[in-house]
Amino acid sequence: MNCAKGKQCRIVVFPLPFQGHINPMLQLASILHSRGFLISVVHTLYNSPDPSKHPHFAFHPISDGLSESPDSAPDPVRIIKLINLNCLQPFRQCLHALLSHGDVKCLISDANWYFTSSVVDALSLPRIVMRTSSVGAFLAFAALSLLRAKGYLLDRDSKMEEPVEEVPPLKVKDMPAIEMYDAEDAYKNIAKMVEETKKASALIFNTFEEFELPEIRRLHEQFASPTFAIPFHKCFSAASSSLLAQDRSSISWLDNQPPKSVLYVSFGSVAAMDTGKLREVAWGLADSGHRFLWAVRPGLVHSSEWLEMLPSGFSEATSGRGIIIKWAPQQEVLSHPSVGGFWTHNGWNSTLESICEGVPMICSPFFGDQLVNARYVSDVWRVGINLEGGLERGGIQEAITKLMDEKEGEEMRKRAMMMKEKIDVGLKMGGSSCSALDELIDFISSFQRVAG
Ligand code: UDX
Repeated sequence: MNCAKGKQCRIVVFPLPFQGHINPMLQLASILHSRGFLISVVHTLYNSPDPSKHPHFAFHPISDGLSESPDSAPDPVRIIKLINLNCLQPFRQCLHALLSHGDVKCLISDANWYFTSSVVDALSLPRIVMRTSSVGAFLAFAALSLLRAKGYLLDRDSKMEEPVEEVPPLKVKDMPAIEMYDAEDAYKNIAKMVEETKKASALIFNTFEEFELPEIRRLHEQFASPTFAIPFHKCFSAASSSLLAQDRSSISWLDNQPPKSVLYVSFGSVAAMDTGKLREVAWGLADSGHRFLWAVRPGLVHSSEWLEMLPSGFSEATSGRGIIIKWAPQQEVLSHPSVGGFWTHNGWNSTLESICEGVPMICSPFFGDQLVNARYVSDVWRVGINLEGGLERGGIQEAITKLMDEKEGEEMRKRAMMMKEKIDVGLKMGGSSCSALDELIDFISSFQRVAG
């Protein structure tokens, strides 16, 4: 491994402090640890991971100027901007200390930590960027500046169905456009993220090469660094990095349900909705007549603690065939034989976890890369139904029936199973993911740091 004689080399990882980013970074860290590297996790106090669940890693908290308690409805755009400003000095000091104590091979940083690029340059340390989205979604983000300049995102409402020829197969409505008070700032941050990613020694994507071949080809045209595509979920579970307690009573409930009869419903760790939408979701589930397991995260509904906004009559209408919990052991739920479908917001982890278990989806993307993922799920891989009409009880009921009872849903399930099998083969010796991992290990091992 090219380290000082008799010593193990260390890799420093720096996850962005959101559930959808912490999970894949710690999964990657576990993979690298299993291949002989020592792992140091630099992390913010905000949404800090629990070191006791990863006794094989060294944890290094840095101050970030934010609250330490987990945030049930975070504003990622504001937080990403703030922490990129606040963490510069503490991160530099922390990295300095780590370098003075041992043989550090490289930093693996979330793409959104764009400030780390200048820090590692000054220390002559290689920086590998891990992007937690799909390659297709990253290309959509990378194209945003150009598309804005071309006017695609102006007057969006009138051209939602138009294809965006620069990023096929996306339509204008799938673009991760930002519609909020400080959109300009957010676009600047995205541009910085893309620019600093271009300077990285390498890029790692939590994905499966064969599902994104055209996208990986386009990525190579724009980004010169080597790229490694590895689906982490299949190697290590994300359960140990969960910020919220996973309610395991859902598994014993699933144990008593018929095979493939349950629709699992979750909208991830960030998305939020108003009371009206919650009611549409609830009545859609009730009217479908199907069994369901619904993870309602505290914070999912604006200005609500938890379930107080559920419509009256919902519990009676669904009694005996549905349960609601706060947070699920999601990967275990998706791999349970009683689960036949996943109604998801299409965060990339959720999308990949579903595919990795051969579970077809109903797609309700909320923002950002979720819109892109939903388009790929419904139109490219054809393993899900995109709820294009939004959260409305009639459309929801129709989609659930189609996915759970009809031939179209069965075809999607078969295709999802085929995708799962391909991923399984890819991870075996000689498969594309297994080779990508071997190449990544060789790549990291080849780094010779010139002491700065
Ligand atoms: C965020 C963005 O919303 C998403 O678009 C981006 O791709 C990653 O960051 P998030 O809402 O956290 O995503 O969703 P997702 O990427 O799906 O990650 C959620 C993680 O939480 C998954 O690993 C999932 O297994 C886990 N989870 C979710 C649970 O453990 N329990 C639950 O009840 C729900």
